[in-house]
Formats: sequence, structure tokens, C-alpha cells
Amino acid sequence: MGKCLICNSVIDPFMSFGKMPIANGFLTPEQFGDEYFFDMYVAFCPECKMVQLTEQPDPEKMFHENYAFFSSTSSRMAIHFKEFAEHVKKDFLNAADPFVVEIGCNDGIMLQNFAKAGIRHLGIEPSSNVAKVANEKGVRTISRFFDANLARDIVNEHGQADAFLAANVMCHISNFNSVIEGIGILLKPKGVVMFEDPYLGDVIEKTSYDQIYDEHVFLFSLTSIQYAFGRLGMELIDIEPQSTHGGSMRYVIAHKGAYPVSDKVKSQLKKEKELGLDNRSTYDVFRKNCEQSRDSLKLLLQEIKRQGKQIVGYAATSKSTTVLNYCGINSDLIDYISDTTPIKQGKFSPGMHIPVRAYDEFVKKYPDYAVLLAWNHAEEIMAKEKKFMESGGKWISFVPKVQVMK
Ligand code: TYD
Repeated sequence: MGKCLICNSVIDPFMSFGKMPIANGFLTPEQFGDEYFFDMYVAFCPECKMVQLTEQPDPEKMFHENYAFFSSTSSRMAIHFKEFAEHVKKDFLNAADPFVVEIGCNDGIMLQNFAKAGIRHLGIEPSSNVAKVANEKGVRTISRFFDANLARDIVNEHGQADAFLAANVMCHISNFNSVIEGIGILLKPKGVVMFEDPYLGDVIEKTSYDQIYDEHVFLFSLTSIQYAFGRLGMELIDIEPQSTHGGSMRYVIAHKGAYPVSDKVKSQLKKEKELGLDNRSTYDVFRKNCEQSRDSLKLLLQEIKRQGKQIVGYAATSKSTTVLNYCGINSDLIDYISDTTPIKQGKFSPGMHIPVRAYDEFVKKYPDYAVLLAWNHAEEIMAKEKKFMESGGKWISFVPKVQVMK
């Protein structure tokens, strides 16, 4: 039992993942003894319909000067954010001398597009190491957490914003109501909020339970977003579904009455009802699906290992921390995880302590099997790993179902 972070109703978890470490907490052997774990429970609020973790680590434990996630590791994501920025510029920055704010701007992957065009912008990024990279690229960034107080300071210094942007960030913020309050202060009367996050509808449909980890406090739907912003005088005016992160939703929000509401919002809300996103029983089915997926993945890996084959993990993603810990997959099954991010290499995966090695190692000696831990980047990865497949290497995937890919 706990209280909903949005509407304060009593909530009851529908699922426990057991003890989980910090998803991006890649560590050295000396740190194994002090590793932090928390009980990862997921709940559905019957009142505002928000799906959420009932307990999360302090944000400072996750977003700090050693934060391991750099957005610019995927070339597809760089293109995605360039297109996002172009869309904002074209459709929402018609005022003279517009001002754009992005929270969680990471290494500046999106804001660099505004910076290059000479548009006034401000990035707000609590992890100081990635914020430093953004500043070095010419993206004006401050290392802070966004809330109503910071919104007032920004308005005093820069004036109100035409666009407030966020990508894969809003679902990280447990004091969500204070962020919405801050947005209300920061945004011009005709300003827009645009943010995207993994979409609950996709998670339920694909059993992609790996979207649930410490950083993802919330799994949003239109229904819950409409409620959360509605109670603070704002409304959902449009949506733009995205294929990123295995299925995301971009929400377009404005002050109530500032713009008409698109028909797309109405029809997607209807779809959410059909999918049962507003109904507790849907989440009980989801839990059973997760348990089945976990059991089949473990069995498959054990069977392959029994045949004396080598299995490695491909990409030490945050999401893989949930999969590996929930399924109990350690270095008895997966020799190492290949990853292109220098800060992760030479370290060990959170909780299961599988070695993370440089991508070169994968290329030097292809394994028999690679578990596609970045299944959301499958297209990009398949395109560049033709040689692995030609060498007889096989992919193991677990979303939307556990399988050796043909
Ligand atoms: P992403 O799906 O963004 O991870 P997360 O679950 O943390 O959101 O994938 C980024 C990670 O995957 C990053 O550690 C780099 C790694 N990666 C590779 O090693 N090779 C690749 O080809 C890709 C696309 C990602």
C-alpha cells in the first residue's frame, strides 16, 4: 500500500520485481559490497489511472556526475531529435525571438539543433557530466532539477518560454505535480509542452516489462497524462506516436483553451479503453505475461548453454538491468555484455555483475548467440551486424516474445 504520486489516492501494487539495483549503476568489483538495492513494486492508481513505482531511489542516487547514459550513442536517435527540433521550429516558434527550454537535455542531442539555428534556449540537466558535454557543444545548460521554484528563476532571467520540451525525462520525475506547476509558470499563454516517453499501451501489448526500472517512476498513457495536467489548468491537445524506445508517445499540451483538441487524442483515448489501460485486471494479466516471459528466457539460455555455446549480451542498456535481475541471468549464462559507451566498459552490470566490454571484443570474436538487450534499436543493429549473422551468429530476443531470431 502507498499513495499515488499524482492524486494521493491509496494504491496497491499489482507486481513486484523483487530487489533491484540502480539501472545505470555500472560498477567496479570494489563497489559490489556497497551496492544499493530497492524493492521494485509497480502499482496502478484506480483514481487517476497512473501506473507508477511505489518506491524509488533518491534522484541524486541516479542522476549525478557519473551518470552513464549518453544520448548520442545512437545515430538513429540523433536523427530522431533533429526531426523533433525541426518540427518544433516550423510549427511552434512563430513568435519573435522565441525561447525553448528542455529538461533532461542530456548531452544536448536535441537542443544543439536550436543552438545551431541561433534560437534562444536553455537546457536543464541534473547529471553534471552529461551537462558539461552539452555546454561544450555550445548548448546553454544548467545542472539543476526542474520544479516550480526554478521555473520562476528562469522567467525572471529569460522571460516565458514558447516551447517546453522533454524526451525520456518526464517519466523519471516523482515530483511530477511540481514540474507541471513549473510548466504552468514558465509557459507563455500560447506556448506548448511537447514531451515523449515510453508508452504504457506498447508496454502492455508487447510485454516489454524492461521499460520498468528505477528511473521510470511512471508509465504514461493519454488517460493519466490528461488527468495530471488537467488538474493544473492544462490540457492534452495532440499526440504523435513514435517508434523510439520500443514504442513511445509524444504528448502536446497547452494551457486549457489555447488550442483545439485534435481528433487523434479522442480516438487514442478510446483505444486505451479497449486495451483496458483504465482497468486493474489488465495489469494482473500483464504480470502473468511477464512471469511467462521470464521463465522462457531463462530456460532458453540454459538450454543453449548446455549445448556448450557462447552467449553474450548486446548493449548494456538501462532496461537490461530489469531483465537480467528479474530473470536471474548472471555470468554463468552470459559471458559479457558488449557496449559502445566508454564509461560502462570495464565495469560490471548492476546487480548481476556481468562484465561490460568494449564493442571491439564482440567484433574480434563473434559469439554463437547475442541477446539483443537493445531490442528497441533492432533495425539499426541488424543493419550494422551483417557479418555477425554471416558468421553463423544468432540473436536472442525477448520482446514481444522470447525467441531465437531467424
Ligand atoms: P538505449 O535503448 O537507449 O538504452 P536504455 O535502455 O538505457 O534507454 O540503448 C543505449 C545503450 O545501448 C548504450 O549503452 C549504448 C548501447 N548500444 C550499443 O552498445 N550498440 C548499439 O548499436 C546501440 C544502438 C546501442
